[in-house]
Amino acid sequence: MAARGENMRVNADRLWDSLMDMAKIGPGIAGGNNRQTLTDADAEGRRLFQTWCDEAGLTMGVDTMGNMFMTRAGTDPDALPVYVGSHLDTQPTGGKYDGVLGVLAGLEVVRSLNDLGIETKHPIVVTNWTNEEGARFAPAMVASGVFAGVHTLEYAYERKDPDGKTFGDELKRIGWLGDEEVGARKMHAYFEYHIEQGPILEAQDKQIGVVTHCQGLWWLEFTLTGREAHTGSTPMAMRVNAGLAMGRILEMVQTVAMENQPGAVGGVGQVFFSPNSRNVLPGKVVFTVDIRSPDQKKLDGMRARIEAEAPTICEALGVGCSVEAVGHFDPVTFDPTLVATVRKAAEDLGYSHMNIISGAGHDACWAAKVAPATMIMCPCVGGLSHNEAEDISKEWAAAGADVLLHAVIETAGIAE
Ligand code: GLV
Ligand code: MN
Ligand code: MN
Repeated sequence: MAARGENMRVNADRLWDSLMDMAKIGPGIAGGNNRQTLTDADAEGRRLFQTWCDEAGLTMGVDTMGNMFMTRAGTDPDALPVYVGSHLDTQPTGGKYDGVLGVLAGLEVVRSLNDLGIETKHPIVVTNWTNEEGARFAPAMVASGVFAGVHTLEYAYERKDPDGKTFGDELKRIGWLGDEEVGARKMHAYFEYHIEQGPILEAQDKQIGVVTHCQGLWWLEFTLTGREAHTGSTPMAMRVNAGLAMGRILEMVQTVAMENQPGAVGGVGQVFFSPNSRNVLPGKVVFTVDIRSPDQKKLDGMRARIEAEAPTICEALGVGCSVEAVGHFDPVTFDPTLVATVRKAAEDLGYSHMNIISGAGHDACWAAKVAPATMIMCPCVGGLSHNEAEDISKEWAAAGADVLLHAVIETAGIAE
């Protein structure tokens, strides 16, 4: 048992072993994971997490979005809980750490407190948010969004995956429809520990990212209407080519993002051609533009420009164009007191650190609407994420979890 005090550390081996055990569920095709939300693999991952939480003495609550809340009791009956967590769902070709690290490091904090015999005044709740990724059902972070009152439950239940299955039906089917009212819980504070998913910390040789902000996002779903026609026999002048319009819009998005440097990104990650046959010009193209910036004016300016220029591009080709915003959050400023707590924890532990802005979206962005919230980051190799080759070291994982442990103890208070 480690001594109680400034040098408290989590059990790095136990955290790593749990990460590796979780990664066995929903294996990918290239060493990572495909544990998409509300699949059988998601259900299995949840059950494993539940088993570990049972063993650690936590009490489970599940809400009607399937969010899992695992509570370690505090000593003060009036004190609101300190929440820690992230997500266990992955991209279709996801890594082993995106989200999973934050959930299992939360569990490791509790396991370490158990080992150390430390009781806290505030309860601690380790959380697994449903569908953070938004890969199967857009938007991302939909369940924490309902929790924060940004989306309605009905809106979330109606989200459809590419096969037409709804979020509500799939949540029931996998057996994780809980009975708690979403958002009824109140938080004293929320901490989310996550891999950076970008190259900055590794390049700067820092162990810890003290996350001060998260950049905002728009997901714009375009539907372009052309005319299905033979790719061989239709003369160039007679084509109503929705695919070509998509290509020109993609180029335009790149230009808009480049003209908003520094601090803006834009790209397209998902495209559906219909009928998607080699020798048929597409009659319909649906694709999602993802634009982000920490600067609200830039973010909204990019959206306005893309929405203004896309119809002009399409018109010149005779292609129909409609657009719908399917995901959005404004740039977030995390709670300065909690940010300072994280920085002090890193300093006390002797870990190198720097302030950082999150490039990815996180459930912390919605939690910040209803409670003081912040994040902790660790580096990832080559900044690679949303890729099965995503990688971190055991030491990096443990350093952030140590910081989480100290920040949670500071915020939850040690019982007298
Ligand atoms: C969520 O994973 C995002 O796209 O940032
Ligand atoms: Mn994530
Ligand atoms: Mn992700």
